[in-house]
Amino acid sequence: MALREEAASSSAKGAPGATSASKRVELQLPSQLGYEKVAMNTAANLARLMGFSKERIEDLKTAVAEACINAIEHGNKLDGSLNVGVILSAGPGSLEVKATDSGEGLPGAGGVVTGAPDIDRKMHEQEAARGMGMFLIQSMVDEVEWESSPPAGSYARMVIHLRQATA
Ligand SMILES: Nc1ncnc2c1ncn2[C@@H]1O[C@H](COP(=O)(O)OP(=O)(O)OP(=O)(O)O)[C@@H](O)[C@H]1O
Ligand SMILES: [Mg+2]
Repeated sequence: MALREEAASSSAKGAPGATSASKRVELQLPSQLGYEKVAMNTAANLARLMGFSKERIEDLKTAVAEACINAIEHGNKLDGSLNVGVILSAGPGSLEVKATDSGEGLPGAGGVVTGAPDIDRKMHEQEAARGMGMFLIQSMVDEVEWESSPPAGSYARMVIHLRQATA
């Protein structure tokens, strides 16, 4: 696993998000279950530096872990020769996380999760037990998109805002 951090500029206090420039942290994860935790904890540490609340950090951790598990499992099909890329970009008011894989992306049109999973039906085996990840991701972050097979691979892109819009 390689870890690279690019800081376009640094503030006096050194906290990401304190300046208008965005700061980037990149991870390359083996396509093996368990490594999603490396991305999850890195994202949480970065979000902490940026001043996100504990609650939002927990949301972010769930979303990042689910996106990485999907990239490992569905995108790269647990192929040990392929890596999952995780690019974290800390901007002045938001954190963007891109989880990339070498697969073809979502089947069909993909993109937006419409129906919420029915937990009761899942528990009574009237609905497939799986199929929670994308719904969770969509519920936890402010923006999400899934891109299939661009030249650099497929990815899930998530953005979480430091200040949530008030309704
Ligand atoms: N990175 C990806 N590449 C290819 N297909 C994907 C990717 N992420 C998700 N999918 C497809 O979308 C489906 C739904 O994903 P989702 O995470 O919601 O559920 P799941 O992974 O099947 O189960 P769970 O996340 O509950 O363990 C997957 O079954 C898979 O077909
Ligand atoms: Mg999943």
